[in-house]
This record gives sequence, C-alpha cells and structure tokens, in this order.
Amino acid sequence: MVVDNIEKYFRFSEIPDGIKEEATQKVALSSYRQKYHIEAPTGYLNDPNGFAFFNGQYHLFFQWSPYRYAKENIWYQGWYHLVSDNLVDWQFLGPGIEPDSKFETHGAYSGSGLAMTDELLLFYTGNTRTASGKRIPYQIIAKMNENGEIVKRQLPEVIGNVAGYTDHFRDPKIWSTENGEFLAVIGSQRNNLTGAALVFHSKDTYNWQCLGEVETGHKEFGYMWECPDYFELAGEGVLIISPQGLQQEEEQYQNIYQTGYFIGNPISKNQLTLGQNLTFTELDLGFDFYAPQTTIASDGRRILIGWMGLPELEYPTEKFGYCGTLTIPRELTIDEGQLLQKPIREIKAKRGSYTAFNKEEMASGQKVSEALELQFKISKLAQENFEIDLCGNQDFSEYTRLYYDGKRAELWLYRSQSGTVVGENYGTKRLLKKNIRGELSLQIFIDTSSIEIFIDGGTEVASSRIFPTSQQRYTRGNFDKDVSVKIASWDIQHNN
Ligand code: FRU
Repeated sequence: MVVDNIEKYFRFSEIPDGIKEEATQKVALSSYRQKYHIEAPTGYLNDPNGFAFFNGQYHLFFQWSPYRYAKENIWYQGWYHLVSDNLVDWQFLGPGIEPDSKFETHGAYSGSGLAMTDELLLFYTGNTRTASGKRIPYQIIAKMNENGEIVKRQLPEVIGNVAGYTDHFRDPKIWSTENGEFLAVIGSQRNNLTGAALVFHSKDTYNWQCLGEVETGHKEFGYMWECPDYFELAGEGVLIISPQGLQQEEEQYQNIYQTGYFIGNPISKNQLTLGQNLTFTELDLGFDFYAPQTTIASDGRRILIGWMGLPELEYPTEKFGYCGTLTIPRELTIDEGQLLQKPIREIKAKRGSYTAFNKEEMASGQKVSEALELQFKISKLAQENFEIDLCGNQDFSEYTRLYYDGKRAELWLYRSQSGTVVGENYGTKRLLKKNIRGELSLQIFIDTSSIEIFIDGGTEVASSRIFPTSQQRYTRGNFDKDVSVKIASWDIQHNN
C-alpha cells in the first residue's frame, strides 16, 4: 500500500511564481555559472536520464529538484527535459517527468529512454515511502509522442522488489534486442547487502520477467549498484555501474562513490554471463563523476554523458540555490579491451579564436578565456618533473595543478589550491596516469567551474568541479628545457 506522507508536494505548474522568481534571482548572483555545460536553471541536478535520439533530435533529461534550496518546503523531484540537434547546443524545455502519481510520491527517480517508431519510451523508477518510512520502488514506463507530450502508463511495470533483493531497486536501462524483444538492467541490492544488476525481459514492454543477475564474477563489490547501463560495442558486452561502498584503495576508488565498467561477452535472454572475475575499470579519475548514461547517436556512435558531481557532497553553488552540472558528451570506442573516451567531435564547431603558445610563453603565464579548450602535446619527457597550472590567479597563489612526476612517470591532478575547496574529506589529489613513456597528450576543457581532462586520446579522463574566483583566468606551464611541447588553445563559443 502506498501512503502519501509528504507534507505537500506539487506539480511544477502549482509552484507559486514568487518562489520561482526568488530562486532564479539567487542563481543569477553566482559567479560560478557554467558557460557551455548543462546546469539546472535552479535547484539540484543529478543523474542524466532518458538519453535517446528520437524524432530527429537528441533528448536528454536530468534528475531535478528545482526548489531544494528554497526557504519554503517545496518538495518536487522529477526529470528536466532538454533537446539538441547536435549534442552540443541544448534547448532547455522545462519539466519532463513530473512526480505526480501515487507510484512516485517521493520522486521520479532515474531511468532511460528507448526510441520506438513513433514514441520514446521512458523507463524509470518511482520512489515511494509508506507512513512508517518503508521504501517501495515502482518501475514505471512513460511514453513521449512526437509532439513531446509525455503520458504515463496506468500501472507500473514492476511493483516492489524482487525476492532475495532489498528495496534498493532502481534505475532501469532498457534496450531492444535483435529479435524485437526488450531487456533492461536494474540497479539492485541483494538481501545480504551487496550490489548487483538484475536483468528483466519483456516481449512487448508490458510484461516483464526477472531473469537474474548479470554475472561478472563480483559477488561482494559494494553494497548497491546504482544506474547500470548495458550496451554492445565492437562485438563486446559492456556493463557500466555506479557501485556504492567500495573500500578506498591506494590508487583507486578515491571518491565517495565510484563509476566504472566491465567488458565481457554480450548478454542475452538466455545468457547472463558477461564473464567471470572481470576487471572493473573506473571511467573517470577526477574528483566529480557519477551515474553516467549512454545512448546511440544517429550515426551509430556510442555516446556517454555523466553527472559531474557526486551524491552527498556539498558544493559552493548551493548558497546560490543550485548545484550540479553534466559533462560534455563523450564518444566511446573499445581498444584492446579498454574503453576509450573522446570528447564528442561536434564540440569542435564551438571553437572560437585560436592561439598557439610556445614553452617560454607558457612559463610566464597567459591570460585565457574562462570557456576554453587547451591542448598540450608533450614529448621527450625524461626524469624531470613538469607542472601545468590552470585557472590560476595572476600571482599563481591559487591554481588547479597537473603535475608530472618524472621519476615515477606519473601524472597527478591537484585541487587543494583551486579556489573554494570541495570534498576535502576525499583528498585533494588524484593519480591520473602511470607508466608514462616519454610522451603525453592532454586535451582539456575548462568552463567557469569545471575542468575535464582527456589524456592520450581518451585512455584516461578526469572530470572535476573547481570553484575559482573570477580573477583566476591564467594558465602557465613549467617544462624542462629538453622537453618538447606544442600548446594550442581555442576559446569556446557560447551563448551564456
Ligand atoms: C544516483 C541516484 C539514483 C536514483 C537517483 C535519484 O545518484 O541515487 O540511484 O535513481 O539518484 O535522484
């Protein structure tokens, strides 16, 4: 039974204008607003949802709690809807899925999109709690037509949790199989409080049966797997998960929660074994990355967008009544059993004025745009260290540092001097790459309050929020005289 114990919850249209205006004004005071990354107009943004190409456009949604920081207790957690022709310029449409049925009283949680012939299926989790606080999850399908109208089916597809698993059961990712049937993976927790991804099958998207877990060989790998995503690429099966509860290790699992992938055999209705003892590889080595989602582009590319943020951390934008941003989209490919992630090529069209710097110019520090793509092609590296300081103030007492440790042949990222500090409890440095062999290429995307670093053509990526002052617009690099460096930069054009 569902008991609505929320004091008062609203449809978006019922929220008083005064509250909306106040929230909008507060956001406008922030100096951290991004220039070309997606942020919520107000409130809290978390996972990307419902990412799909449908009816000639890309559709993307994000988890949205627009008035989380309002003085009044305005409870609303649903999906915000965006569309794009090119994956780079997004049109902000407003509320997508509203938490307006008894199956989602405590939030229209995460889910995915699947383009059908004339509708986009949105498969997501309705979160509810009974008066005694017990959580009851519902897996719900909504349909969006070609006019963008979203209608929910009357009844949920899956009610409650599966025997042997707890009520932490959410975030369906749906796909269609070659024979025209449907599979979905859903983030789950076993009764023994370990994480898993359950597979569901349907012939028609109406009747769903649980087939069991995706087998990865990991029986004790965190206490919950959130936001699973499954797809096939170059003949391999790829399962992305966001496990919670992994122990921090010397070189990995540094953030509060992790996101990574397993690569194995394709799974199907009759074959749920991705593999045994598969290696889990973190997708992003930066400070802020979680719960990404992929889709297939109109030309067949596999594209990923992540949340550049993490649950339960406090970010300095919150005092301006908002929080959270998404990464730029990345194209995924597989190379020797590893995912490569490259910035989506469409973003090149955003390149504005171009500047090349030589080593000496970089050493003295250069003023650059706050919306910037920077490339470093470094060769003849030996045992000497180097450092690149990004988003520094003029005297470089504040900066975000990339540090190459020549003796250890390692690249590190430091955020301790980046400006207003975040997530200090999880450390202020990250190891981005080991065993560097004399050469390194870096493609860096800087926005007002974020930095994304693509290393060596996407073998590693590191995404991080930083909160510099508006004075922090300088870049410098100190390289040994024998090192060869080519440096190029482009302003990124934007409308903000
Ligand atoms: C991940 C997550 C999902 C859930 C959503 C709710 O950050 O916890 O598991 O569906 O956020 O906003």
